[in-house]
Amino acid sequence: MIARFDPSPPLKGSVVPPADKSISHRLALLGAMSDIPLHVCNYLDAADTNSTLHAIEALGALVERRPDELVIRGTGLRGAREPDAVIDVGNAGTLMRLLPGWLAGQQDCAFTLDGDASIRRRPVDRVAEPLRRMGARIEARDGRFPPFTITGASLQGIDYALPVASAQVKSCLLLAALLATGETTIREPEPSRDHTERLLAAAGVPIERTGAALTVGSVDELTLPSTLSVPADPSSAAFLIAAGLLVAGSRLVITDCGVNWTRTGFIRIAQRMGGIVLGDLEEPAGDAIAHAEPTSDLDVTAGPLVGTTVEPHEVPLAIDELPLVALLGCFAEGETVVRGAQELRVKESDRIAAVVEGLGALGGDLEATADGFVVRGTDGLRGGAIDSGGDHRMAMLGAIAGLASEEGVEVRGMDAAAVSYPGFLDDIDALR
Ligand code: S3P
Repeated sequence: MIARFDPSPPLKGSVVPPADKSISHRLALLGAMSDIPLHVCNYLDAADTNSTLHAIEALGALVERRPDELVIRGTGLRGAREPDAVIDVGNAGTLMRLLPGWLAGQQDCAFTLDGDASIRRRPVDRVAEPLRRMGARIEARDGRFPPFTITGASLQGIDYALPVASAQVKSCLLLAALLATGETTIREPEPSRDHTERLLAAAGVPIERTGAALTVGSVDELTLPSTLSVPADPSSAAFLIAAGLLVAGSRLVITDCGVNWTRTGFIRIAQRMGGIVLGDLEEPAGDAIAHAEPTSDLDVTAGPLVGTTVEPHEVPLAIDELPLVALLGCFAEGETVVRGAQELRVKESDRIAAVVEGLGALGGDLEATADGFVVRGTDGLRGGAIDSGGDHRMAMLGAIAGLASEEGVEVRGMDAAAVSYPGFLDDIDALR
């Protein structure tokens, strides 16, 4: 689908972004692993998170889709059923990397995971390697790509230092640790999103953080609170925040947004660039694992921006929003530099190349580096055309660029937005 985004009048009003994708995936998986029914309010109804529901149904969980909630009746920790067919993860990298953690502990059952063309380019060795150390058998195409097959085994806890800061790999190992004998320790090079830790703590799992080390023990069964609610996704909200900062004269309020500090890196970067984003962002960083997800309204006002440097330790806290940092950089005075973000090359697309080429074609002055990009602010973008390449975040990036541009932007492949934000076009229309 091709969509055109013309230069916009000021954006005004309030908007509720869609439910958090990361938390929805986790609730579906943990609900499937649980012995008691889990009621989920505000589960994200989007392509990625629906792939997760289909996957857990294939594994024997029952999913009841009620108008105001989902009810997931799990199989219990060790009761996943071997499906008759390949599990199709669609475009969902989080599903592809988290699910093997659970499946690795299903003794003597084999599970094959595959997905779309983008998924087939994304490495799984980062989860396969530590899961093998725990005792699982995993065979992947060319040693590291989907499709791949996991044969479950009796797992042992390990002490593992993650080579890259990845919440997906960390979460995969946390799920496997629940089924392993002994304790598992996971060491993160930098903090990354901690939704899995919070949910496990809320379920009474023995889990502790000491500095960069997370230690988790095994459990006989998983007992989550009976009802859990998903806050709005700060990564989806970030597109609206960028629009509010860039479209001259805008003032908008984003309501009930998740503001877990491991997800608000983009807001802190935007504030440093001079962006006015007001909200209750005071959640303390630290060792204590919170049991809940904080939320806040965010009040955004357009205004002038200055360039900034995003350092490697900030990258995991803003990983999915870095394309938007590049967009802000095009409108900012001076240079905006992102370093230590080589992980962007293995997202739904190579987002370093896609951002530099995509925004470059709209009149931006950007240069790719091995681990990020440099943007020289030129006081805006002319406009033109951009292709999402099937990447939901590139589609929405093009849309916001168009609203703030001089001549408008045509986005090819806009339908990719449905992966995380099916109501994106309606929400933008409501603000114009
Ligand atoms: C996610 C973690 C991040 C992020 C992805 C969602 C998650 O990936 O980019 O969109 O839900 O854990 P990595 O852990 O690979 O950095």
